[in-house]
Amino acid sequence: MNFEQRYTYNYPCPIRFGPGVIDEVGPHLREQGLKRALIVTDPGFIKLPLYESIISELTKSGLTCLSFSDIDKNPVKKNVLAGVSSFHDQKADCIVGLGGGASMDVARAVALKAYHERDLFDFDDALGGDKYVTNEVPYFITIPTTSGTGSEVGRSTVISEDESHQKRVLFSPRLMAKIVFADPALTMELPKSVTAATGMDALTHNIEAYLSKGFSPLCDGVAIEGIKLVHESLIKAATNPCLESRSKMQMAALMGATSFQKGLGVVHSTAHPLSTVFDTHHGLANAVMLPYGVKFNEEVSKERIEFLCRVLDLGETSTKSFIDWIIDLNKSLGLPLNLTELGVDPSKMDSLCDLALKDVCHLCNPREVSLSDFKNIYTNAFEGTL
Ligand SMILES: [Fe+2]
Repeated sequence: MNFEQRYTYNYPCPIRFGPGVIDEVGPHLREQGLKRALIVTDPGFIKLPLYESIISELTKSGLTCLSFSDIDKNPVKKNVLAGVSSFHDQKADCIVGLGGGASMDVARAVALKAYHERDLFDFDDALGGDKYVTNEVPYFITIPTTSGTGSEVGRSTVISEDESHQKRVLFSPRLMAKIVFADPALTMELPKSVTAATGMDALTHNIEAYLSKGFSPLCDGVAIEGIKLVHESLIKAATNPCLESRSKMQMAALMGATSFQKGLGVVHSTAHPLSTVFDTHHGLANAVMLPYGVKFNEEVSKERIEFLCRVLDLGETSTKSFIDWIIDLNKSLGLPLNLTELGVDPSKMDSLCDLALKDVCHLCNPREVSLSDFKNIYTNAFEGTL
């Protein structure tokens, strides 16, 4: 494999992949007749020299870049409304989502809301809100700078309510990026902690998609390859990065989000409340909850888990062996192994369980999850019992 080369893919949307593709973004937008791009990114990234170098690359072709970065770690509605005002006030004609999951989520929601009058949460997918996405959306492209969320290839966005911080999912096929520019060179300098947490998010997407119920061999195939790529490259990308490991992780992230069109599961439903209540990083929450979620699914997913053991050449084919592999991965990445190590307050157990039950991800879990199941899973995750 040549990791210096640039590739074009058209699944699930047009993707330019490879080191250096960032130099194609400006010319691409100018070819569409676009002149003023609203660059939606996060407040941490905008301070980095990498941001400056990306903007200077984008402006070479005469594009005017207008920045918007007033977004929370777990984005809320007011971030989106401020972004929409920025889009109109600065007379932008296209939107670029640049960064990790939070940037992509806000960029996509700004694109949705820019030409739609309704309240943002009228578009809530759980309420059938996609039927209101009837107007055009501004030309929207994505440039990931982490390898985790895979949101660059997504069609949905997660935005929380301002006060309650309850997560709402907005979905429409119209919200898919017109093109993704995935340039692994942009991820070379990511710190170990970010590489680890986001990488475990990518792994969780691929595993949960593969184990989720329903018939979708298309997604299953993508997920299995995604898991293999994480196995081959995450520790290297986090501890001693090279272009190959960074390229494989960027691809694994894209594949995770592609495969979870099939669905996610109990791990995401237990991870989301940790972000809601404690503002825990999403990938970190998944990393901690993943072994406990896999254990919960053991009785219904044994065959699939054992198949993954064979794919990864783990030697022993058992759920224990698979869970041990995940735990070893977390250990090698320096991540916490249970909720106590994560510093979570156990007195919030009831609200965590209530939020987990309300979360839609577990509806696709291969094993039905009740309120008492959530309590057991969290209890095991506090105690480190597997
Ligand atoms: Fe995720």
